[in-house]
Amino acid sequence: MRKGSWRLDRLDTTVAFALVYSLMGSAPMAQAQVHGNTATTLGRQVVLHANAPSIAPTHSARALYVLHCAGCHSLDGSGSTSARVPDMRQLGLFLRVPGGREFLLQVPGVMGSGLNDEQVAQVTNWVLSSIANASIPPHHRVFDAAEVSQARRSPLVDVAATRAVLVQRAQQLGLQIAQTP
Ligand code: HEC
Repeated sequence: MRKGSWRLDRLDTTVAFALVYSLMGSAPMAQAQVHGNTATTLGRQVVLHANAPSIAPTHSARALYVLHCAGCHSLDGSGSTSARVPDMRQLGLFLRVPGGREFLLQVPGVMGSGLNDEQVAQVTNWVLSSIANASIPPHHRVFDAAEVSQARRSPLVDVAATRAVLVQRAQQLGLQIAQTP
């Protein structure tokens, strides 16, 4: 009887170990796809598996701006006189002028950014709602990918000339769009 109960204890222990081992085996798979034991020239580092789900903030519109636009336009949108990059803080004024809406999408820095239609819409909406927020007209309609795709079909031939026409149209409406520096 005593021997039998010992066997039972032993069986329980075996089951418990099997359970622990099976959990240990499956646990790493359920965890984030990282491993922390990769030798690199800088020492051992935590390295993401190639198939790890991305947690990089590049999905945010602001990150798109920082990565793809701020290098020329600067973080606050103030632009650069020496590089002749216009100040974007009054960008919403273009939305009040016929042709201005398309122009914002068609400038080379946007069309040639390598961003897809959805991302261009996102980053343009972000610029307008943050950096240039004070200048957007009431009842402003946000950009979407379809509008960007449409704008791509008619690229600007002469950016400066098109802009000059828009600046003139704005002046006729009593709006002052800053000259290109
Ligand atoms: C390589 C530098 C550069 C980059 C990168 C760049 N831009 Fe520009 N951007 C310019 C310059 C220069 C102008 C003035 C027009 C021209 O000559 O193309 C301009 C003009 C603009 C204008 C029109 C503003 C005005 O007042 O005429 C908008 C809108 C704009 N850029 C948005 C963006 C956005 C959004 C991005 C990022 C996706 C971006 N740009 C990336 C250099 C750049």
